[in-house]
Amino acid sequence: MVNCPAVANLRSFELSSGSSLMSDSHQQVSVQLGDRSYDIRIGNGILAETPQYLGQKSGRFLIVTDEHVQNPHANDVLQAFRGAGAQGSIVTVAAGERSKSLSALSTLYDKLVAMSANRRTTIVAVGGGVIGDLAGFLAATYARGLPFVQVPTTLLAMVDSSVGGKTGINHTKGKNLIGAFHQPRGVVIDIQTLNTLPDREYRSGLAEVIKYGVILDEQFFAWLEDNIDGMLNRDANVLAHIVARSCELKAAVVREDEFETTGLRAVLNYGHTFAHAFEALSGYDELLHGEAVSIGMICASRLAVRLGRIPAEVTDRQVAVLKSVGLPVEVPENQLTRQQEIVDCMMLDKKTVDGQLRFILPDSIGHVETVEGVDASAALECLTTT
Ligand SMILES: NC(=O)c1ccc[n+]([C@@H]2O[C@H](COP(=O)([O-])OP(=O)(O)OC[C@H]3O[C@@H](n4cnc5c(N)ncnc54)[C@H](O)[C@@H]3O)[C@@H](O)[C@H]2O)c1
Ligand SMILES: [Zn+2]
Repeated sequence: MVNCPAVANLRSFELSSGSSLMSDSHQQVSVQLGDRSYDIRIGNGILAETPQYLGQKSGRFLIVTDEHVQNPHANDVLQAFRGAGAQGSIVTVAAGERSKSLSALSTLYDKLVAMSANRRTTIVAVGGGVIGDLAGFLAATYARGLPFVQVPTTLLAMVDSSVGGKTGINHTKGKNLIGAFHQPRGVVIDIQTLNTLPDREYRSGLAEVIKYGVILDEQFFAWLEDNIDGMLNRDANVLAHIVARSCELKAAVVREDEFETTGLRAVLNYGHTFAHAFEALSGYDELLHGEAVSIGMICASRLAVRLGRIPAEVTDRQVAVLKSVGLPVEVPENQLTRQQEIVDCMMLDKKTVDGQLRFILPDSIGHVETVEGVDASAALECLTTT
């Protein structure tokens, strides 16, 4: 078993990306990436201020959204841009993962051609991670790169996919196989948009929030333990804090390893090697991503216990928080009989090196390491508590 030194260095890793507290529900996080740096504005009811935050009072834009988000959120952003004197329109794709496709992308390229878009045309993604990834890839590739802005409207997109510059679409043979790194010029997060998000999608996003606590920040994890009711009630101040802290933590990791070359960014994959197998086996519809991550984190934590890296209480604390926000922590019954398929999926996962299983495992709450050379049988024994 080998520990990855790049990740071991995380202990001394400073979170200097910094968020500034403007009021309890208005915060700003800066993502420091040299000439690709940008700010994330977080607030309650700030969609109408989107053009001001982006310094986009004129110029042309195309808003990309989906059918669940268009009304009211994307329309509000459209009105704000038009009200600020910018010219542009909105294009709405079908909701869901199937829109991360070449055919949806092709329709969007056609739209840009029809409006004679050029490198001064800004692409604005208003929606969840699907829209962010699709519109981001559109911006990365049209005319060799257009300015791009993210207005995430799911909790998962707010705390994860809108930060870090990964964009892309799916190939029929694999998720996110076609993609590019393309940082946005800015991100505007209006937590009020979460009021219309279905409960299951909302809870799924909380799994990634809890993940940040486990991998990077014990104090944040403890704060989450103390604020379960605020999370469940979607309290605006609680949401602003969890979104800001999550963005700050992700931004700090991305700043150190923007293009996934040092191994540091891999810490974000805690729970994900298991999760990707559960998602693939469920045909991507039985389990939402965050639900699979919740179960995957517990399997990974049990593995860490099994390997003597942590006491069982570290897993128990995670189980308690995940369960109290309504997330599943047990592998679905119908997958427990498919152990060889689970191993096959984990071997196919891009986090596997030379056929050996590699996991991000905690050695305490707030710190993880990459552990390589794990036996498939040890991983399988962590699918259940016994
Ligand atoms: N680029 C990255 O770094 C990164 C990171 C994590 C995940 N992702 C990608 O993100 C995608 C998942 O994102 P997601 O979970 O946001 O899914 P999603 O974009 O499909 O949104 C989930 C559902 O919620 C609806 N929705 C969105 N906002 C809403 C709102 N405010 N009110 C009502 N309904 C709303 C959508 O229409 C959709 O039906 C995956 O494709 C994944 O690969 C990318
Ligand atoms: Zn994830």
